[in-house]
Amino acid sequence: MASTAMDIDEPTTTTVKAKKSVSAFSGKKVNTSLSTPWVEKYRPVSLDDVVGNEDTVKRLKVIAQDGNLPNIILSGPPGTGKTTSILCLARELLGSSFKGAVLELNASDARGIDVVRNKIKMFAQQKVTLPPGRHKIIILDEADSMVAGAQQALRRTMEIYSNTTRFALACNNSSKIIEPIQSRCAILRYTRLSDSQVLKRLMEVCEAEKIVYTNPGLEALIFTAEGDMRNALNNLQSTHAGFATVNDENVFKVCDQPHPMIVKGIIDSCVKADVRGAVENVSKLWNAGYSAIDIIGTIFRVCKGFDMVEGLKLLFIREIGFTHMRIAQGLDTELQLHGLCARLCSKSPNFRNLK
Ligand SMILES: Nc1ncnc2c1ncn2[C@@H]1O[C@H](COP(=O)(O)OP(=O)(O)OP(=O)(O)O)[C@@H](O)[C@H]1O
Ligand SMILES: [Mg+2]
Repeated sequence: MASTAMDIDEPTTTTVKAKKSVSAFSGKKVNTSLSTPWVEKYRPVSLDDVVGNEDTVKRLKVIAQDGNLPNIILSGPPGTGKTTSILCLARELLGSSFKGAVLELNASDARGIDVVRNKIKMFAQQKVTLPPGRHKIIILDEADSMVAGAQQALRRTMEIYSNTTRFALACNNSSKIIEPIQSRCAILRYTRLSDSQVLKRLMEVCEAEKIVYTNPGLEALIFTAEGDMRNALNNLQSTHAGFATVNDENVFKVCDQPHPMIVKGIIDSCVKADVRGAVENVSKLWNAGYSAIDIIGTIFRVCKGFDMVEGLKLLFIREIGFTHMRIAQGLDTELQLHGLCARLCSKSPNFRNLK
């Protein structure tokens, strides 16, 4: 029964014509084929390797040491290490019994009421010899996609088998987990990773893979990833595969996002009340095929970090917010963006000097 779920992310030991390389983490040797996605190749195998969210990871480490795993819910944005942490925790708690004592079900498995009644209950009833003080673990990944009925069916199961089995749930949105389940679990929150944490990891991977990169290239990866480590690693691999050198131009080609330098140009023009310059740059992006929502999203993120007078920045962000709302409601035309440029220019102190 449990074996169906055992095709999960164990430390990679693929041997297909693999070039031997040393994992940058834990100093463990792994054989990896050239085509292995780096997100899997560099998936942390122990909790020590999980980057960021220090407080949460510290709590998991304490649990791993004590061995008394409560039912837990890990909740947070994508690509921040939830699935990875649960697997590391299970591995550290159960060691060699990992295979037989863990049942992993994710959104790709059927998880209706029948599965809870049969598969999960059967697994909870199974006898497995474990070190003293350890429990079997049922991992329900992407638990927010479980229908409410199936979650209801879990309530009593969680309690009845609590002597032998513990549940670890991962989700992006903890409010989609019904309250009775939330009340039975300790909730641990994950946040987006900081730029420096993503940077550190990217540099480690670049070193391990011997990648030629430029600093603006890494900055671009961090800018596009927005705290999502999976996104950063995937974009790094795609850029390396497509262009060899990881520089900002190539990264933005791969990610297909408006180049922040052009967007900086737009904001700079608006600060100077140069509406022609701003409109010209907006048209450049529009004609390159970017959608209004992509352009306004980048304008907001660039403006947030733009070096300008704080008061003016607030006025700009307010206008950008209104335009973003209109675009999201369906008015996604070039005219809206041009209108934004005009409104931003009119907020600039230079505009008054022009009058
Ligand atoms: N904190 C982290 N430290 C190191 N690597 C990470 C971290 N978070 C994510 N990664 C990398 O991103 C990949 C995906 O991470 P993971 O599957 O844990 O994300 P997740 O939080 O479960 O996301 P989702 O909500 O989409 O399921 C991992 O294989 C790993 O390479
Ligand atoms: Mg996950």
